[in-house]
Amino acid sequence: MTSVRKAVFPAAGLGTRFLPATKAQPKEMLVLVDKPVIQYGVEEAAASGFDTIILVTGRGKNAIEDHFDISIELESFLEARGKTEQLAEIRKISRLINFAYVRQGEPLGLGHAVLVARDLVGQEPFAVVLGDDVIDADPPALRQLVSVFERVQGPVLAVERVPEEHVSSYGVVAVAESLGGGVYRVGDLVEKPKREEAPSNLAIIGRYILTPDVFPALAATRADRTGEIQLTNGLRQLLQQRPIYACEIEGVRHDTGNKLGFLKATVYFALRRPDLSEAFKDYLRSALER
Ligand code: G1P
Repeated sequence: MTSVRKAVFPAAGLGTRFLPATKAQPKEMLVLVDKPVIQYGVEEAAASGFDTIILVTGRGKNAIEDHFDISIELESFLEARGKTEQLAEIRKISRLINFAYVRQGEPLGLGHAVLVARDLVGQEPFAVVLGDDVIDADPPALRQLVSVFERVQGPVLAVERVPEEHVSSYGVVAVAESLGGGVYRVGDLVEKPKREEAPSNLAIIGRYILTPDVFPALAATRADRTGEIQLTNGLRQLLQQRPIYACEIEGVRHDTGNKLGFLKATVYFALRRPDLSEAFKDYLRSALER
């Protein structure tokens, strides 16, 4: 059991970048090798000692709930046919961790999605996990963040150095002080700055450990030009009241929220699968020669 138990997964987005695949299917259920993208994040939370996932969903997201629910029919079917390996895998998914669901209703941004989870989080520290960012790390990325949280006793954001031409896709932090070991005290935060206005190339990647005082800060945060309440802007507000920290994660991160990143993640995980890697490598070599 860790000092942080609950992880909020915003999952109400429409997934328009992956149309038509996401017309009738949540983007969180797109598959990397043989697991939906969101399951990578859920497994990371479970492996990091979390006991509850709060999924912030919306219309058309029922497949996510069904995926993590117990399926008695499927379990009895696999049991009757002696498919023990598959049965164990299916049982594991539905018994990984507790799930709670809340609906966002309107697409008013990431900050708003977190605010919607306020009652389910209550008065305790919690994580936010953006499932598009799939991170292969040991210890798991959330566990690394929780260790820093236990030390600094304040909000901790996962960050990564990105090429300057990519800063405008991220929330970017300015460093006030380096505490060593890739941990920083944050001086400022800017959501999606222009390249020439970015305070650094330290980009926020989709993992946060937050404290419940972020909720009033988010409630006081105005929507931006696009009509969305940004989590980064809420954190900027909170920074007026308390120190916030950032931590560079040791591991490999994939942004599966765009097509190229999704394809790279597929290849990365396929190459790490003992049952697939050799045949897949052979195929990739021959495909490149063609
Ligand atoms: C969101 C956040 C941004 C963060 C990014 C990480 O942006 O608003 O601050 O850097 O996630 O993936 P989105 O990718 O949803 O546009």
